[in-house]
Amino acid sequence: MELNQVLFDKEKVVELGEVKLKTEGVSLYYRNFQALRNISLEIPDRAITAIIGPSGCGKSSFLRLFNRMNDLIGGARVEGKVEFDDISIYEDAIDVVELRKKVGMVFQRPNPFPMSVFENIAFGPKRHGKKNRKEMEEIIERSLKQAALWDDVKDKLNQSALALSGGQQQRLCIARVLAVEPEVILMDEPCSALDPIATLKIEDLMRELSQDYTIIIVTHNMQQAARVSDISAFFMMEEDRAGILVEKGLTSEIFTNPKDKRTEDYITGRFG
Ligand SMILES: Nc1ncnc2c1ncn2[C@@H]1O[C@H](COP(=O)(O)OP(=O)(O)O)[C@@H](O)[C@H]1O
Ligand SMILES: [Mg+2]
Repeated sequence: MELNQVLFDKEKVVELGEVKLKTEGVSLYYRNFQALRNISLEIPDRAITAIIGPSGCGKSSFLRLFNRMNDLIGGARVEGKVEFDDISIYEDAIDVVELRKKVGMVFQRPNPFPMSVFENIAFGPKRHGKKNRKEMEEIIERSLKQAALWDDVKDKLNQSALALSGGQQQRLCIARVLAVEPEVILMDEPCSALDPIATLKIEDLMRELSQDYTIIIVTHNMQQAARVSDISAFFMMEEDRAGILVEKGLTSEIFTNPKDKRTEDYITGRFG
């Protein structure tokens, strides 16, 4: 597995990690409807990959391939290969609970549990067998610090998470993912319910986290993709509404010098 390439462009040198996740010829169906067609994409470690494209082109479906969340949807069927660290994750032998621990997910609307800040973060580690109070306190402090939320909530650990602002709640959801020590973080339009200041905070946090984690973000905010991601993949729909991958590459290239006319039309706002 050798991506480990150093790619050069005009402004910056982007050093990409090894391939962490990979799809090869993946198609996804919801019963008879094909939502994704023949998608092959490599996702580098320790970088941010943005999935962009018009509504309905299969971005969320694509993201859910990596933690097998489509499994939870009746009638969903995956063809082709999806790999995590070279391991094919749609084999029967794969422990899906363990997979979802390694591949965490953050959703469009912050969805803290209706319990205290402390209990929100403790929830995952507890389920994975951690019980010791001291250890739990350490996990909670580490996760909240990593999510840039510790200073905001260190005196409110026992208060309801639902009392936090939207941006704080989203960072709490990120902390909750971090608490179980994932390797990959999937984010499905994580800022679409947030104001611009809270959005920038999440983007800063993502940049910070990308030093240690593989991050994939779905966004329909083009400025956000341009600001935050290293790699971009542009999806679109074909006539039968199946999602296809049109173009992928360094974000700086995709946004300044797209190779495909359809990408250009989309990023310049001509459709979508
Ligand atoms: N659970 C589902 N059952 C049936 N069709 C679905 C389901 N989820 C998504 N779809 C369809 O799959 C296509 C892609 O959806 P989605 O992945 O949510 O796109 P995006 O995130 O790009 O807006 C859409 O046509 C959508 O209606
Ligand atoms: Mg979506």
